[in-house]
Amino acid sequence: MNIKRKKGWEIPESQATPETVFRNRRRFLTAGAAGALALGGGAYLAIGQGGDAVAQAQPDPSAGLYPAPRSMRYRLDREVTEEKVSTTYNNFYEFGTSKNIWQAAQKLPIRPWQVKIDGLVAKEMVVDIDDLLKKVQLEERLYRHRCVEAWSMAVPWTGFPMKALVDIAQPTSAAKYVRMETFNRPDVASGMKASFYSWPYIEGLTMAEATNELTLMVTGIYGKPLPKQMGAPIRLVTPWKYGFKCIKSIVRVTFTDERPRSFWEVSQGSEYGFWANVNPRVSHPRWSQASEEIIGTGGKRVPTQLYNGYGDFVASMYTDLEKSGERLWM
Ligand code: MTE
Repeated sequence: MNIKRKKGWEIPESQATPETVFRNRRRFLTAGAAGALALGGGAYLAIGQGGDAVAQAQPDPSAGLYPAPRSMRYRLDREVTEEKVSTTYNNFYEFGTSKNIWQAAQKLPIRPWQVKIDGLVAKEMVVDIDDLLKKVQLEERLYRHRCVEAWSMAVPWTGFPMKALVDIAQPTSAAKYVRMETFNRPDVASGMKASFYSWPYIEGLTMAEATNELTLMVTGIYGKPLPKQMGAPIRLVTPWKYGFKCIKSIVRVTFTDERPRSFWEVSQGSEYGFWANVNPRVSHPRWSQASEEIIGTGGKRVPTQLYNGYGDFVASMYTDLEKSGERLWM
């Protein structure tokens, strides 16, 4: 793994965003004194006159919404991963295949940003991200984040339940799945020039999964707006599934009666499927999923848990499907 390891990276769960910090910080931000935030979390890019992306240290217009109050319903069994670890060890193939894409990702303009909601809905719409943020209630949740590559992190995400987005979209009763799509900008994301992959990045969920209480539309992290390398301005987080389901920088949400074929399923269907639920007993064709390395701990490995430890919230969605022979674990 291509990461630096230092002592003292981990901060306890209790310190991810203490209440006093978010109160003080909100005051500070409201006063218009928002300074530079780590790794692009508080800045965005503007398009220059020639059409090129030009870095300008603009304050993120949503910065005043963070930190949001933390939900105590979702507890961790480990320390929160230190911010500089989780924000510099990323998968975002649009910007390259290495883990070290955080600088390249700063080229992505994230304002204006609109999300198209279409397909089997009462009325198709295009929502501006800052208007969407006004319609929802943000909260912080501490979740484990387990990549199919057998590494994991513990992350203080801020976002809103995807159920709230479904309520805004008003899908018809014919909708069985939600298909999500990432931006298509090879001009700023040079990884998208790799023709081996089927761009743009697509992911999908069943309606039951999309409206499960764990499913979060994430717009912030560590009490700040989401940095670009982690999928700003809006991404998905489904903590019981392998991380590749957590599609970043979403521009389109489509309600459909057809099961979406995701980016990884199209690219390598023998290794990655639609369901991708975490299961330590089902190996990836090329490696075991029995344990995982917790990034930022100097190589500490822990046993992986079924549904990444979230079975109480999600297992009932899969009981019948498992009997029907669906490949739930890849
Ligand atoms: N979304 C897009 N658009 N492009 C990607 O390459 N990588 C996925 C997922 N979402 C990816 C993506 C994978 S493989 C993982 S493990 C997680 O993002 C990584 O999220 P993180 O970098 O925020 O930890």
